[in-house]
Amino acid sequence: MDFTQIYSRYSDMIETALKELIPEAAQPGTELPGVRSVGVGLPGVGPAGAGLPGVGPSEPELQEDVLTRSLHYVVSGGGKRLRPVLAMAACDLVGGDPELVVQPAAAIELIHTYSLVHDDLPCMDDDDMRRDKPTAHKVFGEAVALLTGDALLTYAFEVIARTEALSPEIRICLVREVAEASGEQGMVLGQVLDMCYTETAAAFAVGSERNRWLTRLERMHGLKTGKLLRVSARVGALCGGCVPEQLALITQYAEKVGLAFQIQDDLLDAVGDSGRLGKKTGGDARLGKLTYVSLLGLDRAAKQRDKALAEAGQALDSFGDRADFLRALADYIGLRER
Ligand code: IPE
Ligand code: IPE
Ligand code: MG
Ligand code: MG
Ligand code: MG
Repeated sequence: MDFTQIYSRYSDMIETALKELIPEAAQPGTELPGVRSVGVGLPGVGPAGAGLPGVGPSEPELQEDVLTRSLHYVVSGGGKRLRPVLAMAACDLVGGDPELVVQPAAAIELIHTYSLVHDDLPCMDDDDMRRDKPTAHKVFGEAVALLTGDALLTYAFEVIARTEALSPEIRICLVREVAEASGEQGMVLGQVLDMCYTETAAAFAVGSERNRWLTRLERMHGLKTGKLLRVSARVGALCGGCVPEQLALITQYAEKVGLAFQIQDDLLDAVGDSGRLGKKTGGDARLGKLTYVSLLGLDRAAKQRDKALAEAGQALDSFGDRADFLRALADYIGLRER
């Protein structure tokens, strides 16, 4: 099993699909009469030389193709495409054709990308770098960034609904699965909890309170990032025609991978290399976030991550060698440095 080769094969298929779903703006935008200024600009997007806070004097004009450009800006390049790769691997594992899951998997990547665009907004984590580039609101302004997220979320469901290679029954099932994972019982709820728990961890991480916060933290992580990883694996398995026992095991695997993923994200925010990550580090501490690091410290956080990874591996035991790629993917996700 050549992990890198299989990963590239899956992610190339996804990149191709994303390029078709979110094409580049055909030509430079047409200025509208009475346009107003947004954002701080970026070379190639706004006036040359603009781009980062304090760098650009300029503000690009709001042009009518701005949504096309912002969608392309946030979706193209930079992301690891973990969720679609997970979906395709789960499909493969149960004997399905990964080609079948490309469109729904790309749809999940659109939702993930929307969650990042909103997560970075000043009213949330207020971050100015993402995937090695200035964040969407830095380039296009907050209103366009907000609407870019809205468009990605909506478009994702259109993409699933029109996947003709899948039966209408499967499409409805996927729409429901993905909606539940993304919305008020899923990622969005997790993001709300992330805000609620801000600046409380330090105060409560003492004595018997610590365990109560650990339970809340595990739930929050399971929601804000775990749910999209979980649904990715489920979508893959469902498109591949899995039986219920397979779906249960793959779900168990993905829940543990999701937890390990976010613990590692917490660790990277504390001790990772921002150049390598393509996003700034230290934000969690700056904002007083409840994380595995703020609650347990680096060593115990790493132990919890390793425990989750071991449990993810165990969930695949009954699949034998066929699950080797997913085993390696768990470690790739859990021990990533970017
Ligand atoms: C980063 O997700 C944000 C979180 C959900 C914690 P990824 O690490 O998968 O980001 P990309 O898609 O590769 O940029
Ligand atoms: C992001 O978690 C979760 C979602 C986008 C849903 P973080 O806020 O920790 O992600 P990063 O560190 O900004 O990528
Ligand atoms: Mg956040
Ligand atoms: Mg963030
Ligand atoms: Mg983070």
